[in-house]
Amino acid sequence: MIQLENLSAYYGRVQSLRSVSMKLESGRIYSVLGANGAGKTTLMRSILGLVRSTGTVRFGGEDISALPTHERIRRGIAIVPENRRLFADFTVGENLRIGAVNRNDREQVEADVKEMCNTFPILGQRFTQAARTLSGGEGQMLALGRALLSNPKLLLLDEPSVGLMPIAVSDIFKMVAKISAKKGLTVLLVEQNAKKALQIADYAAILELGSITFQGDVETLKSDDRLQAAYLGGH
Ligand SMILES: Nc1ncnc2c1ncn2[C@@H]1O[C@H](COP(=O)(O)OP(=O)(O)O)[C@@H](O)[C@H]1O
Ligand SMILES: [Mg+2]
Repeated sequence: MIQLENLSAYYGRVQSLRSVSMKLESGRIYSVLGANGAGKTTLMRSILGLVRSTGTVRFGGEDISALPTHERIRRGIAIVPENRRLFADFTVGENLRIGAVNRNDREQVEADVKEMCNTFPILGQRFTQAARTLSGGEGQMLALGRALLSNPKLLLLDEPSVGLMPIAVSDIFKMVAKISAKKGLTVLLVEQNAKKALQIADYAAILELGSITFQGDVETLKSDDRLQAAYLGGH
């Protein structure tokens, strides 16, 4: 459902992504692992059209490579950026509704906001509180809930575990897996926390200096000694 062909990205004359090709099937979770600076965020920015790139991005069969970011988002791509970018002085409820700004089915949006508060009860409990009063884990749940309210087909998650307690990371990853399975949502999960990411991923890719050096199912990655040592801290 999303296919990247020879995707390269540049900041000025510096190339940060080198001819990346990937095929992501609907309803599956793909984890992209890689060290700091490997190009993980750049990969997401390229999919959204936020960085100068060459190559092709196909989404649901359509070549979207030439489309501006807002058109790509309108077709069903949502991102939870690394720093979450919540509106700190807006309430939890307002932040959730902001996720649905591009939708015009108002009544369904309200029903979905309610459903999101059932999925993440803490968001219901904190509904009228400002987002800045949330803990790290709660803030990440809000960022995830907000992204989901746009009804995406593809969800890009950029290092959702950063700054969270291990228990909050487990909760959020479990929730992502559940929602993906329930809604047929495709997830591209970029993580440095490889162990946690691979607990929910169907497929994994490794990015090194802008190039994909491994791509395959999680079991294959786990059975490769070199990759095991480099990304999972050995056996
Ligand atoms: N805005 C930018 N301007 C110039 N270089 C950048 C910019 N953003 C990222 N880079 C460079 O691109 C490479 C990949 O960065 P990034 O995609 O952020 O890596 P990751 O998310 O894997 O940590 C790094 O070498 C980084 O220094
Ligand atoms: Mg990054």
